[in-house]
Amino acid sequence: MARDGAVYACTSCGAVQTRWAGQCPACGAWNTLVEELTSRPPGALKPTKATRTRHLAFEGLDETTEAPPRIATGVGEWDRVCGGGVVPGSAILVGGDPGVGKSTLLLQVAAEAARRGQRCAYISGEEAIEQVRGRAQRMGLADAPVKLAAETSLRAILDGLKAEPFDLVVIDSIQTMWSDNHEAAPGSVTQVRAAAGELTRLAKKRGISIIMVGHVTKEGAIAGPRVVEHMVDAVFAFEGERGYPFRILRGAKNRFGATDEIGVFEMGDAGLSEVKNPSALFLNTSGERAAGAAVFAGIEGSRPVLVEIQALVAPSAYGTPRRAVVGWDSGRLAMILAVLEARCGLGFGDKDVYLNVAGGLRISEPAADLAAAAALASSAFDVALPQDCVVFGEISLSGEVRPVSRMDSRLKEAAKLGFRRALGPADLENPALPYARASRLGDAIQRIHDAGWDERS
Ligand code: TYD
Ligand code: MG
Repeated sequence: MARDGAVYACTSCGAVQTRWAGQCPACGAWNTLVEELTSRPPGALKPTKATRTRHLAFEGLDETTEAPPRIATGVGEWDRVCGGGVVPGSAILVGGDPGVGKSTLLLQVAAEAARRGQRCAYISGEEAIEQVRGRAQRMGLADAPVKLAAETSLRAILDGLKAEPFDLVVIDSIQTMWSDNHEAAPGSVTQVRAAAGELTRLAKKRGISIIMVGHVTKEGAIAGPRVVEHMVDAVFAFEGERGYPFRILRGAKNRFGATDEIGVFEMGDAGLSEVKNPSALFLNTSGERAAGAAVFAGIEGSRPVLVEIQALVAPSAYGTPRRAVVGWDSGRLAMILAVLEARCGLGFGDKDVYLNVAGGLRISEPAADLAAAAALASSAFDVALPQDCVVFGEISLSGEVRPVSRMDSRLKEAAKLGFRRALGPADLENPALPYARASRLGDAIQRIHDAGWDERS
């Protein structure tokens, strides 16, 4: 039974219900409805006189709009993901697992922007000022004129930002902010939504760029940043694998730029450093390439990235063979194994199969299909691919190798890194490298089996 004034908000999609249910009726997620104490449903709009009498002024698509000005923060990889710098008056949400390095990144962004003359503030609701200052010193940023504050009261923050002019403000984190207009606990859907809403409004009104940190929690106990995604102008995910130093900033939504852009960083003792050439980070160019390894010429965002895909095919000790993937989709592995079996007669039914993307990168491009298949075949035949060969191409269920986007850029990057040949889809004119064409998966597998790398098509 719903108590008076109690509503139930979904921590996954943010939909508000008047009754509790095990499954959210809006998004279908289970066990995500949590009670929110509030006197009125958040976001309920009351029509005012002004909204009833105002007229709409229509404009045409052909009228000129000036490109938004940008603040170049000096952290090049950050600016790249923003679309060329932060747009004044925009609200940006940076999500990521606890400990991935969000505070480190944003302190660096604020400090570098401040060094370039922007008026920057860093407001932490999680750490004391001494902690933030200590970290800045370790990172060599102590001289940057960033204004620090430790505060969780939304009212105090809004008043402070109205009293003094700022260009860029970091709020770390949105889950710790708390508005006294709402009874709900900090971190609840109501509070997170209220804080993000108020801060976004302030950003628009005053032309301040506000960057908010949001923790993503798997348990759903704390409202995830997903409930505020629609309010803000841009949502970036900061990702990294445990045990690997690299971090990737990925655009998930961006009203002022492309969303497929990534920024690559390396976490070190003195904070994050920018990685201008990601391939060098993910690829071991020295030493022999063993059987079961294939170098995939991929595209991440707008940049080509080379990465090694490793496969191990071993006799299975148990009745049900094992399939394990790291950094790749297990459904896609199953599909490739099925195509190899059905179209090329290469069976894995009694074999354990392990597939690993080296360096801890996660690949979601279908263009990696052929490289994965090549790695699997190479391991199954125990024949190593040539050391200086890159592979790319999408595989269809019928066993065709399909062309993929930006094949030229992939080959050029490979050539730049010293690769001397490539294996890929047949439809490619004037390849930048000696190029082995495979219109069907069978052709590619045959080449690997026979170590036949001459340039027949
Ligand atoms: P942090 O920015 O606090 O993460 P988040 O705000 O996303 O929770 O970063 C925490 C991790 O980063 C911590 O495990 C230590 C590591 N780190 C470094 O390796 N080098 C550094 O210079 C800094 C500041 C942090
Ligand atoms: Mg933090």
